[in-house]
Amino acid sequence: MTQKIAVLPGDGIGSEIVEQAVRVLRALNLPLEINEAPVGGTAYDLHGHPLPPATLKLAQESNAILFGAVGDWKYDKLPREHRPEQAILGLRKALGLFANLRPAILYPELANASSLKPEVVSGLDILILRELTGDIYFGSPRGIRTAPDGEYKGAREGFDTMRYAEPEIRRIAHIGFQSAQKRKGKLCSVDKANVLETSQLWRDVVIDVAKEYPDVALSHMYVDNAAMQLVRAPREFDVIVTGNLFGDILSDEAAMLTGSIGMLPSASLNASGQGLYEPSHGSAPDIAGKGIANPLATILSAAMMLRYSLNHPAQAERIEKAVQKVLQLGLRTADIYEEGTNKVGTAAMGDAVLKALG
Ligand code: IPM
Ligand code: MG
Repeated sequence: MTQKIAVLPGDGIGSEIVEQAVRVLRALNLPLEINEAPVGGTAYDLHGHPLPPATLKLAQESNAILFGAVGDWKYDKLPREHRPEQAILGLRKALGLFANLRPAILYPELANASSLKPEVVSGLDILILRELTGDIYFGSPRGIRTAPDGEYKGAREGFDTMRYAEPEIRRIAHIGFQSAQKRKGKLCSVDKANVLETSQLWRDVVIDVAKEYPDVALSHMYVDNAAMQLVRAPREFDVIVTGNLFGDILSDEAAMLTGSIGMLPSASLNASGQGLYEPSHGSAPDIAGKGIANPLATILSAAMMLRYSLNHPAQAERIEKAVQKVLQLGLRTADIYEEGTNKVGTAAMGDAVLKALG
C-alpha cells in the first residue's frame, strides 16, 4: 500500500536539507507518494499565511510529514499570527502531535564537538520526551492589555496561562514509561511542583500512571535542577518526560551536549501514529543558499519517520547505519568539522549517505 509523505521544506536552509533527505527516502524504493507544499515565511510570501489551508490539508491527508525549518529575521515584525513559527505550532495543534521525541545522542566520532569533557559525555544517549500541544504555549487567556487592577493598575501587562488537563498528562506519561521500557528502564519526570499548581498536578498524575509500569524506575526533578544535572552528569538520564515549555528549553540544552545540533532528529506523534519529523535545529538563515548546511539531522528524521509512522524499522536502521558510516569515513559538514577530517557541503554529504546505504 502506498504511503503518503508531505514534504514541507520551509525557510532558510530548509529546502537544502530536506532535498537530501528526500533523495535518501526515494533511494529505498518503497511505495511512497511524496508531495511538497510551502510552509513558514515562504508560504506567507506566496499565500499570505505561514500555514496555508492547502498545506494543512496535505499534512492532514499524509501518513507522515517531513518538515525542514521555519523562520527568518525578516518576518519578526509581522503580527504574531503571520509569523513563520505559527506554522509549526499550528501543525502540532491541528494534527494533535502531542508526543515530541528528541533524542540526544553523542556519536563517538564527534566526541570532541561537545563543550563538555569527553569523560562526562562519551556514550551519551538520552531521550527527551516533550509534551507538545498543551501548557503555556496554547493556554488561554493570553494577551497584552492595560492592567485592570492590582499594584500595576493602568500599566501595560502581558499574560499567558499555564494549563494542563489530566488526560493530557496521562497520555504523555504513558509514552514516557513505554519509551523507558524499550531503553534502560529509567524515567525522570521534570516539573516545577515546588512552585506551580500545573506541575503539582503533573507530578500527581505521573505517579499514578507509574503504578502500571512497575518495571520502570521513576524519578522526579525540578526543572532548574534538571538543567543543572544535564550539564553535570548527563549520562544519569535515560528518558526525560516534561511539559511543553520546560521541554523546549531542556531539549536545546541536551542537544548542545552532543555539540552538534546539526545531527539531531525529532519526531512529533499523535495518537494514531501520524507524525511530523524535523531536525532539532532551526532555519539558519545566515547560511541559507550556501550549500554548507548539515543535512544529517533531516536524514535521521526521515529514518525516525520510517520507524514510527511508516513501519519500516529495517529501512530506518539502514539509514542510521549509513550516517554512522559516513562519519566513520571522516566526512563532515562545516558545523561538525575538525582538523584531520574531510569537509563537505550539503549535497556531497547527501551523496555519501546514498552511497553508504549499500
Ligand atoms: C522548537 C522551537 C519551536 C518551539 C518554535 C519555533 C515555535 O523552538 O521546536 O523547539 O518553541 O516549540
Ligand atoms: Mg525550541
